[in-house]
Amino acid sequence: MFALVKKLVIFLVILIIPNLLIAEERKFYLGKIATKTEIAGWDIDVRPDGLGAPLGSGSAINGEEVYAEQCASCHGDFGEGLDRWPELVGGEDSLDTHDPVKTTGSYWPYASTMYDYIYRAMPFGVAQSLTHDETYQVVAYLLYMNEIIEEDFVLNDKNIGKIKMPNVEGFLMPDPRPDIANVNGNPCMQNCNTPTEIIGKARDIDVTPEEEKS
Ligand code: HEC
Repeated sequence: MFALVKKLVIFLVILIIPNLLIAEERKFYLGKIATKTEIAGWDIDVRPDGLGAPLGSGSAINGEEVYAEQCASCHGDFGEGLDRWPELVGGEDSLDTHDPVKTTGSYWPYASTMYDYIYRAMPFGVAQSLTHDETYQVVAYLLYMNEIIEEDFVLNDKNIGKIKMPNVEGFLMPDPRPDIANVNGNPCMQNCNTPTEIIGKARDIDVTPEEEKS
């Protein structure tokens, strides 16, 4: 009888120790520890240098079909954007004009961001329904339509961080705008008001019409 109790106690201690160890990390006993699979479901970001890109590949040749079936109904057969859906192709050399056309081709600095965004958010309403290969295919198709890669270029997890986008130099780091100078690197904690000077008014360039006085 005593032996049985001893066995039971040892069994319970073995059962409890891991919980105590885990409890150390969970001071407030809230929620539960995420499993590896759960974390993998959230960990889908692909960084500018391609870090995080999932295994897979695709070329514009296969991307055309995926695009036609799943994207063209909104973004147009050639990425021109139907009705008021966003256009995805064109706009080159327009960024410094009066009417800049910002598309994945003309504006986005990294191809990896196209992967990240499309996999994460498109097709609109059925996000994350594309496979990794389909996403590579459709990104390749958009890059091809924007004349950034050739039709048969095989885009994959190894080279997506190396695609040179036309506007990669268009983003300045650190951000040189005077009103955010303080938050670059070291957050400003005191005397954070930087002197500012108004150098132009929207009204002067006719963005804000004068209010009609009755
Ligand atoms: C039902 C319509 C619809 C479909 C289908 C659709 N999209 Fe979109 N797409 C949108 C809308 C709406 C936005 C803007 C979303 C926002 O700004 O929050 C968008 C934005 C985008 C953008 C970002 C554009 C930018 O410059 O900000 C990309 C890239 C994109 N879609 C690619 C795709 C691809 C690739 C597919 C097919 C796999 C697809 N979309 C299918 C409606 C759609």
